[in-house]
This record gives sequence, structure tokens and C-alpha cells, in this order.
Amino acid sequence: AQAAPVITIDGPTASGKGTIAQRVAQALGWHVLDSGALYRLTALAVLRDGGDGTDEAQAARLARRLDVRFQPDAILMGGEDVGALIRQEEVGNLASRVAAWPAVREALLARQRDFRRTPGLVADGRDMGTVVFPDAPLKIFLDADVGVRAQRRYKQLKDKGFSANLDDLLQDLRARDARDRGRAHAPLVAAADAVTVDSSHQGIDDVVRQVLDLWSAHGPA
Ligand code: CDP
Ligand code: CDP
Repeated sequence: AQAAPVITIDGPTASGKGTIAQRVAQALGWHVLDSGALYRLTALAVLRDGGDGTDEAQAARLARRLDVRFQPDAILMGGEDVGALIRQEEVGNLASRVAAWPAVREALLARQRDFRRTPGLVADGRDMGTVVFPDAPLKIFLDADVGVRAQRRYKQLKDKGFSANLDDLLQDLRARDARDRGRAHAPLVAAADAVTVDSSHQGIDDVVRQVLDLWSAHGPA
């Protein structure tokens, strides 16, 4: 049997990957993989284990053992809903540090590929098109101006009741982008066969329509 189709959406932090992936999956009736959540959960597990992000073996062990269940409105870790908690910048920043370690990436690889089920999967992250699903029939590289992304993340955090400072966020985003792009293993880079979409001046609906049009044009088998 042929593997289920995958649409990959990779890009820098706060470019809109998660939002677009959810909406596209909903429109197609497909499954969704928020791969960043797995790195964020690993970071949270490290924090709770008393780690500070300097021990690769510890992080890999915790990544391998993650007891996680994705539900429509919750992410359960060991039965506790940590969906809101892992959105904090502290967790995101540590996630991008543990994500640089090959042992952690390796520990999460099979788990990510398990999400590929019929009728299809929309997967968002950094290396969905390059490493995890290199044979995906449609790959999107979603980008946006860093200032626009900082504004979006700022509003998102405020709306969720977290405190946030725009200047700090801009610095965090720049540092995280640089780390994600510069690392040796599975760096953030557009796959050679990816379509780049710049959402700096586009609303969510426009980007969703563009991705769906690309999928129709591709002609689902
Ligand atoms: O997953 P990622 O970090 O790439 O981004 P996100 O959490 O999906 O999106 C960040 C924020 O930008 C969300 O609050 C979206 O509603 C917003 N957004 C937007 O305003 N316009 C877009 N074209 C895409 C996302
Ligand atoms: O929402 P945002 O784009 O800020 O981050 P995320 O997608 O939740 O990912 C958090 C961190 O996990 C990123 O900064 C990456 O370092 C890492 N990550 C990764 O290395 N590979 C992925 N496929 C997804 C996330």
C-alpha cells in the first residue's frame, strides 16, 4: 500500500505554522502533527527533572520516555494538560537548545513518523520536509518578517494571559532563529523542493487558501 500523503510546513518561530497546519488539516480532514510540541514537552520534562539543558543523555532519555497524548484541545503529559504551559517562551527557548542534540532528535523520530496515517497528515516544524518526511508530496516553507513574527507572538502570549515584552521577544526570536538555522543536525532550511510562502502581509485565510490551492494543483492521486 502507498504511504499516506503528507503536507509539510516548516519555518521560523511564529511564522504561523501551527495555525496554518491546523486549518489545512481541518479542511482536508487529515491528521496533524505539531512536532515543536514534542521538543517543548522534552524541554518541560528536563526542567521538571531538575535539568538545565546541559545534559544531552538526560534529555534524550526523557524524550524517549515521553508519555504524551494529543487531544483536540489539550496536550496530556502523564495525564496532565500541559498545552498552555509549554507555550511559554522559557520552554520554547530551552526546546530550541535540546533540539540541537542529535540524540534527542533521534529519540523523537519514530514517534513523529507514526503520525502518518490515512487519509493524510499535515506536519509542522523545522525539519518535516528535509528529515522526517523527505518524500512528502507537498512541502511549504512558511516565512515572515521577524518584526511581524514578534508582534504576532506578543499578541498571542498576551491573549493567553502571559506577560510579555516586545523587545525581549524580538531578541528571543532572533536568537532562536539563529540557533535553529545554525545547528549541525537538521537545521531550519527550506527543502530543495519546498514552496516558500511569505505571510508577512497575508492573513491566515489567504495562506490557508494558498496551501490548499497548491495541494489541488499538485493533484492528489
Ligand atoms: O506555529 P508558529 O510558531 O509558526 O506560529 P503560530 O503559533 O501558528 O502563529 C503565531 C500567531 O500569528 C498566531 O496567533 C496566529 O493567529 C498569528 N498569525 C497571523 O496573525 N497571521 C498569519 N498569516 C499567520 C499567523
Ligand atoms: O511555535 P514556535 O515556532 O515558536 O516553536 P515550535 O515549533 O513549538 O518549536 C520549538 C523549538 O523546537 C524550535 O525553536 C526548534 O528548535 C525545535 N523544533 C525542532 O528542532 N524541530 C522541529 N521539527 C520542531 C521544533
